[in-house]
Amino acid sequence: MQLLDGKKVSDDIKNEITAEVQKMKEKGEKVPHLAAVIVGNDGASLTYVGSKVKACERVGFESTLVKMPSTTSETELLKKIQQLNEDDTIDGFIVQLPLPDQIDTQKVLMAIDPRKDVDGFHPENFGKMALDMSTFIPATPFGILELLERYGVETKGKHTVVIGRSHIVGRPMSILMGRKGFPGNSTVTLTHSYTKNIAQITTQADIIITALGVPNYLKAEMVKDDAVVIDVGITRVNDDSEKGYRITGDVDFEFVSKKASFITPVPGGVGPMTIAMLLKNTLLAREQKLL
Ligand code: GUN
Repeated sequence: MQLLDGKKVSDDIKNEITAEVQKMKEKGEKVPHLAAVIVGNDGASLTYVGSKVKACERVGFESTLVKMPSTTSETELLKKIQQLNEDDTIDGFIVQLPLPDQIDTQKVLMAIDPRKDVDGFHPENFGKMALDMSTFIPATPFGILELLERYGVETKGKHTVVIGRSHIVGRPMSILMGRKGFPGNSTVTLTHSYTKNIAQITTQADIIITALGVPNYLKAEMVKDDAVVIDVGITRVNDDSEKGYRITGDVDFEFVSKKASFITPVPGGVGPMTIAMLLKNTLLAREQKLL
C-alpha cells in the first residue's frame, strides 16, 4: 500500500506557486489577489476560509476576507459580489458554501463573473469543464486529479466508482474521470442515496472516490484487493481531545488500507490539495491562462 500524501504534494505545489509569484515580483508585476466571502459563523467554514487566507500569505498572494453576518440578505450578498466582480485589484474570489437558508445558492454562484470564478462553480465554467474546454476546475476534484497524476496512478480503462453526487465534488469528479486524457479515460459509475446494492458496485471498482461525509462508511468488504481509494470525507467527530473533536474520513482506514494499492489519509490527503488547487486557479486567473 502506498499513501497518497496530500500534505507533501500540496507543499510541493505551494512551493512551485511561490516561485511563480517571486518571478512576477521581480518583473514588477502585480501578484495574484484572492478574496473569500463567508456568510455566518459556522465553525468548520470559518476554519476552511481561514486556511485559504493563510495559504495565500504563504505563497505571497494578496488576500481579502469578507465576513458577513448570518442574517445577510440575498440582495446584500449579490451587491457584494457585484463589487468584487468590478474590483480590478481582485483576480478571483470564492463564496464559501454552505450559505444560510434565506439565500439561493445557485443565484449567488451565477452572479460571480466566470473569469473570477476560481471555484469553478458557475454554470458557464461547469459546462466548459464537461465539454473539455479550458476553464477553472473545482478545487477538490482538481486536487484529486493532481494527486493521481503526481503518483502516476493509472486511470485509463479503469472502473472508477464515485460515491456522492454533490455539485462540489462527486458530480464534477464523475465528469473529469471520464474525460479524454490523463488522469481520465476511466469508465465511471456515479452512486448516490438511491443506488441499490452499493457494495456490489464498489467491489467492482479499480478506483473508489468517496465524498459522502459519513465517518467510516467504506468498509474493507466493500473494496477489492489493490483498489485505489480516495477519501474526500471530512467530518468532525466529537472526542476528549483539547479541540473537542477530530476529523474523520468516509473510509474505515485501518482495514481498507490493508487491501488498497493507493489510499489517501484523513487528515493529510485530499484536504490540503483543495487549498493548493484554489491557489493554482487564482494564479491562472491572474495570468488568464486556463487549463
Ligand atoms: N464548501 C466546501 N467546499 C467548498 C469549496 O471548495 N468552495 C467553497 N466556496 N465552499 C466550499
